[in-house]
Amino acid sequence: MITYLESVRQFQLNTAHTTYAFAVADEGYLTHAYWGARLEPQDLTDLLRLKESPFVPSTNNRERASFLDSAPFEYPCGFTGDYREHAFGIETTGGFRACDLRYADFRIFSGKQDPQGMPHTFGEGSETLMITMKDAATGITVLLYYTIFRDSDAIIRRTAVRNDGEKPVLLNRVLSASVDLDDDRFEMLTLYGSWARERQICRLPLRHGKQRIDSLRGESSHQYSPFFALVSPQTTEETGIAYGFTLIYSGNFMLQAELTQHCQTRAQIGIQPEDFVWELLPGAYFDSPEAVLVCTKDGIGGMSRCFHQLFYRHLIRSTWRDKNRPVLINNWEATYFQFDLAKLQAIAQESAKLGIELFVLDDGWFGHRDSDSCSLGDWVPDQRKLPGGLKPLTDTVTGLGMKFGLWFEPEMISPDSDLFRAHPDYAIQIPGRSRTESRAQYVLDYCREDVREAVWEQIKAILESVPVSYIKWDMNRQITEPGSAILPPHRQKELWHRYMLGVYALLERLVTEYPDILIESCSGGGARFDPGMLYYSPQIWASDNTDAQERLRIQYGASLFMPPSAIGAHVSVCPNHATGRNTPFETRANVAMNGTFGYELDVTQLSEQEKAQIPEQIQRYHSISHLLREGGLYRLGNPFAPAECAAQTHAGWDAWMYVSESKEEALLTFVQITAEANLRSRRIPLAGLDETAVYHYNIDHTDYRKTGAYLMQCGVLIPNLHGDMQSLQIRLETETDADS
Ligand code: DGJ
Repeated sequence: MITYLESVRQFQLNTAHTTYAFAVADEGYLTHAYWGARLEPQDLTDLLRLKESPFVPSTNNRERASFLDSAPFEYPCGFTGDYREHAFGIETTGGFRACDLRYADFRIFSGKQDPQGMPHTFGEGSETLMITMKDAATGITVLLYYTIFRDSDAIIRRTAVRNDGEKPVLLNRVLSASVDLDDDRFEMLTLYGSWARERQICRLPLRHGKQRIDSLRGESSHQYSPFFALVSPQTTEETGIAYGFTLIYSGNFMLQAELTQHCQTRAQIGIQPEDFVWELLPGAYFDSPEAVLVCTKDGIGGMSRCFHQLFYRHLIRSTWRDKNRPVLINNWEATYFQFDLAKLQAIAQESAKLGIELFVLDDGWFGHRDSDSCSLGDWVPDQRKLPGGLKPLTDTVTGLGMKFGLWFEPEMISPDSDLFRAHPDYAIQIPGRSRTESRAQYVLDYCREDVREAVWEQIKAILESVPVSYIKWDMNRQITEPGSAILPPHRQKELWHRYMLGVYALLERLVTEYPDILIESCSGGGARFDPGMLYYSPQIWASDNTDAQERLRIQYGASLFMPPSAIGAHVSVCPNHATGRNTPFETRANVAMNGTFGYELDVTQLSEQEKAQIPEQIQRYHSISHLLREGGLYRLGNPFAPAECAAQTHAGWDAWMYVSESKEEALLTFVQITAEANLRSRRIPLAGLDETAVYHYNIDHTDYRKTGAYLMQCGVLIPNLHGDMQSLQIRLETETDADS
């Protein structure tokens, strides 16, 4: 519920468990009062501390600058006295950068208004507060949107800018959200990484100054994720305060926490301001992407579950959202570029025998692509590898009762391609400067409609010629030499955001014209593993690293803000191609089942013993995948814990649980990362269960019946398994009347 307390000009957003409040202070400054556990609507303006030095300008105008540099602002702007990081920045035609936004008006309405051309939350039960702020000198109007959903504790924030003045204005910063938290005892949790080592966790105390994570790569990136949390030093997985922030956007972003001189913390998230300038003509609008803000007292796990639930209910738009995804086989690690029709047919035939439901043809099927050095942009089947095109293969696959999926990299162009030879200007580049190659390819200028059209025509021709049920949309390099042939000089810095709008426009077209195609987004592994992509693709390839042990960390990190049902995860061969490590086949499957499950190997080369496990794994995955989609995730272990000590510590093992909303079903997965001699069983307390319910389960051929209270306080005893990377998956179900 959103309320306005007129007597103190205070806005209060109340979700089931939280309150977010801000108020119009002296002279229309918009000031942040409170964000935390739920409070009934009440006057919270004492928390603004405006009745103490330096006071508000009407009391102490000679110290206006001190007021501006210390008051908690809801949407701060720069160069008028607030020297902390600002959220909004402009430049006038005269070259001046100061801005002074003051409150003008508000509107509360049911439903929401969406940012144009960008992924966004949607669905029943929402209520929105729209605040209008104005900069009198330029005529710039800023609209701050706050949306809450009845079934979520998250707050969706975004900013829209309208130029109501008479002259163009350059926007050089439009963050989606800024929050001044009245506390300095935070640790900042971020995700960092690299190709094949995505989403590692960093948790460090905030220090005075600015701590920033960002991307200037044209994608959300392997290196950092558009997510961070501020937690207290005492916050654990299931207890303590956690503020989480993420952005529904896949391009350049920045997020920052700044510990200020007055020991407050300014938290911000939005489009990367570096190299961003957007010309806003009179009468024109600019929309920021939506930011999602979460506050919980239930620790890091509570924060994750809030993100997961919001994204499941209000962001994943695919018709596949509620359906069990087909278990797929992808030929990438099986063949890379070296395949022919017979090889693919053999893999398909063996896969079908084992119950695999979707055959995905990855890279290498088009142009003359025998390696990654050519043909991107020429989406025509390679007749040498696939005589007669894709049809003979799709006939085989569908004849076997499987669905067919296909890989594209629609945003790219190879210098060695017919498309580039005909249209070298289609590549992002700067005239007179050499183009930096990456994986021997360039990025297409998606700011241009004609470029998008040229790609779309080719993709559509394929989709109309063979039955494609699944598309893997890949993106394997970052942007360099940002330059577009269609943008005038003063608009070149619009390229980064226009590029993303172009990508979203093509994805929009794809999901609108082919709503039943299952899309898996990908970017050289997990470089675009973000909520923006989730809007179009309900599953996202999380990493090119398929090693089960490394995946424990990558998937744990990913699950901090993204729903596990979105984490593309495959069983691959050993020794693993990325790490050279051997892990048991069963554990590879148990780890991949903590995501969207599939296989990525040459199934014709598996041992009979391995093949024999596959039908049961598929059947098991289908029987649990509703828990991954709709259930709550409880992380019980921590794969980042050091592996040198044993028994009752978190070291050397990982475990996680899914609990259904009714709490009648749960799934526990345990992985013993490193074996140790002479250890007794490990006692692992469970979480998220119904205290009074009686659960039955089986460990090591022994049946148990225990209450939820027992399981959460005392735990289950997991035997010391013999060997590294051994694992168990345990199903818990409450007893029905018939059982007891
Ligand atoms: C990068 C992806 O992450 C891989 O899964 C694979 O599709 C390759 N690209 C193909 O080039």
